[in-house]
Amino acid sequence: MKLIKYLAVFLLVIAISAFCFALGWGFGYKGYFGWIRSKDYASLPKPSLAETGAEKRILSVLHDIHSPGQADPLLGRFLRILVEAVNAKNVVEIGTSNGYSALWISLGLRATGGKLITHEIMPDRAATARSNFERAGVEDIVTVVVGDAHQTITAVEGPIDILFIDAEKSGYFDYLNKLLPKVRPGGLILADSANKPSLFPDFIKAITTDQNLETIGLEMRSIGISLSLKKR
Ligand SMILES: C[S@@+](CC[C@H](N)C(=O)[O-])C[C@H]1O[C@@H](n2cnc3c(N)ncnc32)[C@H](O)[C@@H]1O
Repeated sequence: MKLIKYLAVFLLVIAISAFCFALGWGFGYKGYFGWIRSKDYASLPKPSLAETGAEKRILSVLHDIHSPGQADPLLGRFLRILVEAVNAKNVVEIGTSNGYSALWISLGLRATGGKLITHEIMPDRAATARSNFERAGVEDIVTVVVGDAHQTITAVEGPIDILFIDAEKSGYFDYLNKLLPKVRPGGLILADSANKPSLFPDFIKAITTDQNLETIGLEMRSIGISLSLKKR
């Protein structure tokens, strides 16, 4: 009788885990790849400190356009660090919106002398982003391409140092297939919302099973991103 009870509990736990996994909830998604969580550091209140007037100008626009629920400043700071760490010269972003993450990337590109090409389907968002880039003084660093990125990225030139995918989730797999060959060995691919794998299972499968990629997941507050290194 006791054995049947234990068996029933065991089966229930398996069933709940499978359910969560299928929906991309809770602990289910963590089975895809290792996750690094920055819970403690995430709560550090210290903002980015500007050293130069140019940095101050970008940070002040970032402060001005940020709204809660939008991209997290922690992700922005992380992007900026990566840009400088890999000395990125050619960064590609899919999904510009108002240019928030692009401004963080351009903070790093100021130091490396690199450029960002960011793709946006909505003309009004692209126009807002352009005006934010002008206010921030980075219009010579960032180019906004307006249109459906599935088409516009075919004109992207490699080698890409960093690819940041942050547009509609159903398109992630296609973006990866089209741009991975143009990412240089040693280059990085980041994808937003990777903590919700049920939105793009084919993409998650690709970045976790391709032997040329080394992938981890990073969780920062409510943000979950994947970070893949193209090894060769
Ligand atoms: C989450 S927002 C991007 C946020 C931005 N990366 C940031 O962190 O500030 C996603 C953007 O992708 C755009 N988008 C959606 N589908 C697209 C497509 N097929 N081509 C280009 N942009 C697309 C949307 O219009 C939206 O502005």
